[in-house]
Amino acid sequence: MTSAANSITRDVHRLPIPGENAFGATAPYDVEKIRRDFPILQRKIHGKPLVYLDNAATTQKPQSVIDALVNYYCEDNSNVHRGVHLLSELATAAYENSRSVVQHFINAAEPSEIIFVRGTTEAINLVAQTYGRRHVGPGDEVITSPYTFAATGEAILYLGARPILVDIDPRTLNIDPEDVRRKITPRTRAIVPVHFAGRPCDMSALRQIADEHGLALVEDAAHALEATIDGRHCGTFGDFGCFSFYVTKSLTTIEGGMVVARDARAADRVKTLALHGMSADAWRRYSDEGFIHYDVVEPGFKYNLTDLAASFGMHQLTGVEERWARRQAIWRVYDRELAGLPLRLPAPPAPGTRHALHLYTCLVDDQRTQVTRDQVLGHLHALRIGGGVHYRPVHLHPWYSRTYGARTGSLPHAEWVGARTLSLPLTAAMSDDDAADVVRALRLIFST
Ligand SMILES: Cc1ncc(COP(=O)(O)O)c(C=O)c1O
Repeated sequence: MTSAANSITRDVHRLPIPGENAFGATAPYDVEKIRRDFPILQRKIHGKPLVYLDNAATTQKPQSVIDALVNYYCEDNSNVHRGVHLLSELATAAYENSRSVVQHFINAAEPSEIIFVRGTTEAINLVAQTYGRRHVGPGDEVITSPYTFAATGEAILYLGARPILVDIDPRTLNIDPEDVRRKITPRTRAIVPVHFAGRPCDMSALRQIADEHGLALVEDAAHALEATIDGRHCGTFGDFGCFSFYVTKSLTTIEGGMVVARDARAADRVKTLALHGMSADAWRRYSDEGFIHYDVVEPGFKYNLTDLAASFGMHQLTGVEERWARRQAIWRVYDRELAGLPLRLPAPPAPGTRHALHLYTCLVDDQRTQVTRDQVLGHLHALRIGGGVHYRPVHLHPWYSRTYGARTGSLPHAEWVGARTLSLPLTAAMSDDDAADVVRALRLIFST
């Protein structure tokens, strides 16, 4: 029996005949437009005939994907079934393609495997199940930063393990390797540093500690897509690197993420766990050779990235550097223009490192102003400028303090920074005027 995937491939191969409607005379979508939006080529990938998005498609806007969705899904219900398959064919090709593009982009010094998953949260949760012979579970401890989004600790909690929070360096806002050493116990299984705001952690110190104690090193690289140390990408120093493609990140698949794994066997296990513990994913099951049985080798999760999400990501890959450069221009304006205000600005990147410039966070200096951080946020809001707080430290959130009895004063640097930090608008979409408005607003606020 021919699989649905392959029969639709044949239909798609008929698309190039100008003016002909491959799916029936009355279908409403515009074949010419789809041909323009998707340069469909017939190629072989991994020995299989595939409908393939040419690299030229990477320069196209997600709008073309949205147009195609509207054409196929909305105008005529009878096309939904075929539309779904066509889109998933296109997107599967995008998924395969994006894997190799990302591999190139990451340019790891050592060969790394890439697995696309649903987010950093799921990535950390999955890799925590592949450390060594026994996965992280109840009674185990995993060291991480209190100065992060709740997701980092949550991924550890899912497994019944306990996140052990260590203090940060108040200048870099990354975990302090000396405090990591102090908090290691016989129950410690892993260290999860967070490259806060895109600033690389001290990976050589952390690697040394992990190796000395036989611990896994898992980088939360949710902010650090573009960050490097001596030219090598963050996320490739640990045993695993976990990236986020959530909407606020510099490359988004709406929801999504990526695991970079150093070890091919560990990568295979992550991939299997990410899709119900199955030995073959849908693409491998339906091939021209006929149906291939899969085995469920262990209970897994539904954490795979969707093909369609991958196609959004692929469209954005080519703009990553350009958007980083634009954020850098805004960052420099802030560094220059805010220098005289009662704010502690971000520390310059350490020599040999590249900051991903994900968040511009400064500290309201209460030695030099009566205006509190929350008042600044309120004034900015009144001036129609969005500010943020990254982060109030994790251990002071009610669930954590209730569950672990954390007291104020237990992680003094994280608490001090968390009470004063303020994130300013920073996106590549901002104009010079937008950046000037932010500067003007802050001058006004601090002059009162
Ligand atoms: C530092 C950090 N870790 C983890 C996450 C979770 O990422 P995701 O939403 O992709 O699961 C985020 C999300 O914002 C984050 O900022």
